[in-house]
Amino acid sequence: MKSYPVEIHLKVMEVRIFKDKQQVAKRFSTYFAEKVAQHGIFHVALSGGSTPKLIFDVLAEEYGDTIDWGKIHFYWGDERCVSPTDEQSNYKMTVDHLFSKVKCVEGNIHRILGEADPTREAMRYSNLLEINLDRISGIPQFDLVILGMGDDGHTASIFPHEMELWNAHDHCVVATHPESGQKRVSINGTIINAAKEVVFLVTGDNKAKKVDEIHNKKSGFEKYPASLVNPTSGKLLWFMDKAAAKAL
Ligand code: 6PG
Repeated sequence: MKSYPVEIHLKVMEVRIFKDKQQVAKRFSTYFAEKVAQHGIFHVALSGGSTPKLIFDVLAEEYGDTIDWGKIHFYWGDERCVSPTDEQSNYKMTVDHLFSKVKCVEGNIHRILGEADPTREAMRYSNLLEINLDRISGIPQFDLVILGMGDDGHTASIFPHEMELWNAHDHCVVATHPESGQKRVSINGTIINAAKEVVFLVTGDNKAKKVDEIHNKKSGFEKYPASLVNPTSGKLLWFMDKAAAKAL
């Protein structure tokens, strides 16, 4: 593993680079288990994507019996507006790869209702965050937000063509996928940056270009939502495999 601190906007982020996606999954799972052990109740926002899928398998396999799953409240950073049984549902992916295999408390699983009207659901989920989470400077605060990054530089479901959603007034917004037109409900940038800790999970060489542009601040890097992730807590970690980090 290669690990080093990087100065961003006077705050420090940590970059951890591992051999491959499997190692990212293993090391993130260890990190996650330690975090949960250090907390009482633990509020985490999950991400969709292929890296979390592998992580859920590793967590269930290696930490199924040792993590106190009942302490964890699960939320999502974003959800596709589809039914919870649809193959595209981030919730379904988490059920298949994690919840069906470990002892979570049903009432602690706070899914975004992908099947509901997106605008109403964004409002309902914003309220739910207000009710369930402690606040920092008036903003609901997750203990941990897990993010992926698309090869277009999007994160959660804030895409480059909808940068205005990052600072939207409401905690949750309705986004539109640029190619498929699929609606998504996503937390906004304010919620992401208010978290006690934010972790990016980025793997694969299709991510290398954006990782290079963002980390090396190449011209125009600010147009990628992922570049705006900069938690006020100063705790930002990037878990990457060598393929995604090849330009660093
Ligand atoms: C989504 C995800 C999205 C994802 C990235 C990275 O629901 O589409 O939340 O933001 O995290 O596209 O996905 P991979 O892990 O597959 O690279």
